[in-house]
Amino acid sequence: MKLHINENRVLSHIEPEVYGHFSEHLGRCIYGGLYAGDNSDIANVNGMRKDVVDALKEIKVPVLRWPGGNFADEYHWMDGVGPKDKRKKMINTHWGGVIEDNSFGTHEYFELCKQLGCKTYVNGNVGSGNVREMSEWVEYMTFNGVSPMAELRKQNGHEEPWTLDYFGIGNENWGCGGNMTADYYGNKYRDFQTYVRIYDSNKPVKKVCCGPNGDDYKWTKEVMETCYRHPAPPQTHGFMDGFSVHYYVVVNTWENKGSAKEFSEEEYYRAVRKAYYMDDIITGNDHIMSQFDPEKKIAMLVDEWGCWHDVEEGTNPGFLYQQNSMRDAQVAGATLNIFNKHSDRVKMGCLAQIVNVLQSVILTEDDKMLLTPTYHVFHMYRFHQDADLLDSYLEGSKRVGQGEDECDGINESVSVDKDGIVTITLNNVDATNTTEVDIDFRRKEIEKVEGYVLSGTMTDYNTFENPDKVQEKSFDGFEFSGVDLKVKMPPCSCVTLRVSLKK
Ligand code: AHR
Repeated sequence: MKLHINENRVLSHIEPEVYGHFSEHLGRCIYGGLYAGDNSDIANVNGMRKDVVDALKEIKVPVLRWPGGNFADEYHWMDGVGPKDKRKKMINTHWGGVIEDNSFGTHEYFELCKQLGCKTYVNGNVGSGNVREMSEWVEYMTFNGVSPMAELRKQNGHEEPWTLDYFGIGNENWGCGGNMTADYYGNKYRDFQTYVRIYDSNKPVKKVCCGPNGDDYKWTKEVMETCYRHPAPPQTHGFMDGFSVHYYVVVNTWENKGSAKEFSEEEYYRAVRKAYYMDDIITGNDHIMSQFDPEKKIAMLVDEWGCWHDVEEGTNPGFLYQQNSMRDAQVAGATLNIFNKHSDRVKMGCLAQIVNVLQSVILTEDDKMLLTPTYHVFHMYRFHQDADLLDSYLEGSKRVGQGEDECDGINESVSVDKDGIVTITLNNVDATNTTEVDIDFRRKEIEKVEGYVLSGTMTDYNTFENPDKVQEKSFDGFEFSGVDLKVKMPPCSCVTLRVSLKK
């Protein structure tokens, strides 16, 4: 099998946000996962878990979406500001019916993003909120002057406004966010976004419209039609900067998703085959978006993606806690390669969810923490952030899996960074066989190669007793001469190669 790389042909730029994450008030994502609180024995900085924040900095988290998800369309931001002992306690109706004490609110979110050094993406409430509430939240977060909300922010201890990079106008409004029709939501979008004011033109808030559930192209088309029909929306910057798309890999059915830890080879290949479907979803939605926005000014944000398995036995079913195996790593590797290849349109991806929920990069148990195989994939792919996508293609790809789950055994993407170093991320999906790949650059000869690998059996995962069973290692299974590089990929592996070319 051959991977051709044209090092002279840049196709698009890979925004760092493609490697973004999602955090919801769900289970132990915020409480216990990211946030220890003010009076915790767990080492923390202003309430944020130090171990978790330090680990997340290593994968260069570029953006963090918050507070939901479903939770966003029931969240009333005023409940989460001001003295903590006065904040309202409420029931988290979506997720486990537990008490939400609102001790993590707007100020805490911006503190977390400051510690992570990442961009901010707040999701507003359309489902059960109103225009005024949303507008006042944006004023509270971003206005630097005399106004009721700016005064309130100052009284609550934050003199300066924060930088709000992205703002979502509702979440999954076709479902949990109000069960709206596309036309109705499209009109709501036009209305609500009007009052998301840009107070500082040097720091415009990017407005995100609620896109479809995966391949629901009807929703995409109808929302776009409503948003762009007569009277035309203002053509100035900021009517619609982003369009969100959600897609989860559910191996079997929503009723019986399948175990995160015990699964057959058939279910392994099915997961990868379903991960590859992301390519169709992006292509289909991009096609419709391009009818309204041929210059691709509106970014597609895949701001919820990942594997959704049955919850871990013995845990609260509403907490969506699941283990994370080499199968999840393969899904992550394939998905991120697809995002890179579509980086002309896809400008953000948010893995669901960052800690302790669905396909997390980190799991915690009291004061213990472990890094999942998916974490290591994000670490190995960090070189793609802010790099340029290079033209590459596989010749003679081998097929794996059976019947309708048959799929490509290898997937890849290639970028070049500001220093001219080429990053190749290559995944051998084959669960049992080593695969050899010949990589061929066009003209430039290879000077130096560094490699990293994540491999194991498809069901391998890390536990608190054995946290390093699956971990990134340095890799030397390659040889090169001239423009050719030969790689021997272990079964079920993700490989990153960093290639320096002769000038
Ligand atoms: O990530 C879990 C849930 O999945 C989110 O709350 C919702 O947006 C989606 O349905």
